[in-house]
Amino acid sequence: MAMWGGRFTEASLEEFKAFNDSIGFDYQLAQQDIAASKVWAAGLAEAKLISQHEAKQLQDALQQLALKLEQDPTLPVDSGEEDIHSWVEGQLTEQLGAVARKLHTGRSRNDLVATDLRLWARDAAQAVRHSLLASVQALLNFAEAAGGAVMPGYTHLQRAQPVMVAHWALAYVEMLKRDLGRLDDAVSRLNVCPLGAGALAGTGVPVDRSWLATELGFDTAAANSLDAVSDRDFVVELSAAASLCMTHVSRLSEDVVFFCSGEAGFFKLGDAISSGSSLMPQKKNPDVFELLRGKSGRILGQLVAILHVLKGLPLAYNKDMQEDKQGFFDLMQQWQQSLQVLATVLPHLP
Ligand code: ARG
Repeated sequence: MAMWGGRFTEASLEEFKAFNDSIGFDYQLAQQDIAASKVWAAGLAEAKLISQHEAKQLQDALQQLALKLEQDPTLPVDSGEEDIHSWVEGQLTEQLGAVARKLHTGRSRNDLVATDLRLWARDAAQAVRHSLLASVQALLNFAEAAGGAVMPGYTHLQRAQPVMVAHWALAYVEMLKRDLGRLDDAVSRLNVCPLGAGALAGTGVPVDRSWLATELGFDTAAANSLDAVSDRDFVVELSAAASLCMTHVSRLSEDVVFFCSGEAGFFKLGDAISSGSSLMPQKKNPDVFELLRGKSGRILGQLVAILHVLKGLPLAYNKDMQEDKQGFFDLMQQWQQSLQVLATVLPHLP
């Protein structure tokens, strides 16, 4: 039975369930859901709503579940559960029986999903940060390796003045440094904990929300419960930072495509990062840079999508907000991978 099915007498229509369920993508929040649940169990025990023994039972079972998911993160996908929150509770119930049902006391999937997604975004942003720094380093190495080499600098795509190849590479270092600032700035604002905001109006459970926040590594607890459950600014901010960063990557890629072309011929594509043509043996195609250029379109599309989902939504939670995830998961993954690939292929250019 769904977490909310208690007063329903009819089963869900198959088509409704297939459309409504989010387990097919929010299973990616499993570890975050478990982390938030462990802390919530401790909060319930502290508030004397469950015993310390029950809290320990819940936490041990959650820990086991986390290990099981490390082996197979896609485990929840075919479970038939509605979402990751019901899946975790279902697994606990199978293992512990009635005590598992106590875990959801005083919380809602609305504050839970907002917490899970922030935890996920924080980790994903760290991975992006790592790859962004790798790209900056690769550009610095590229500039150093270029030494005193010069090539034409362009305005209006017409040869304007000679510039050093290193000067070109360092221009992109400046852009990526600003992107790093935007990423860090977005992370500093997202690091606020919604847990304890309940469905919309707070929780009846006397939990210390600042303690919950600290335990989960947040800087502070959210100040307003209506905002806490319905704020997805952090998704927008990271998507905007990704869009601008990938716009820079697309400009760099376009430069490289042109510089490697027969018309310019300033850079040479290494075999290890090029593809050829089965029909035209003279060709060496800059697929990697074309793909990087193309990814920027996909990422910008996700930014526009989330802004449209949020525009005009009344407070507080609305199911529209379930549409915040798939595009965002994809965006953060593509952003990180693109930057990592850029760092990897740059040494194969000259
Ligand atoms: N799957 C839902 C989402 O991602 C979880 C929250 C559900 N809340 C609710 N009131 N139906 O948004």
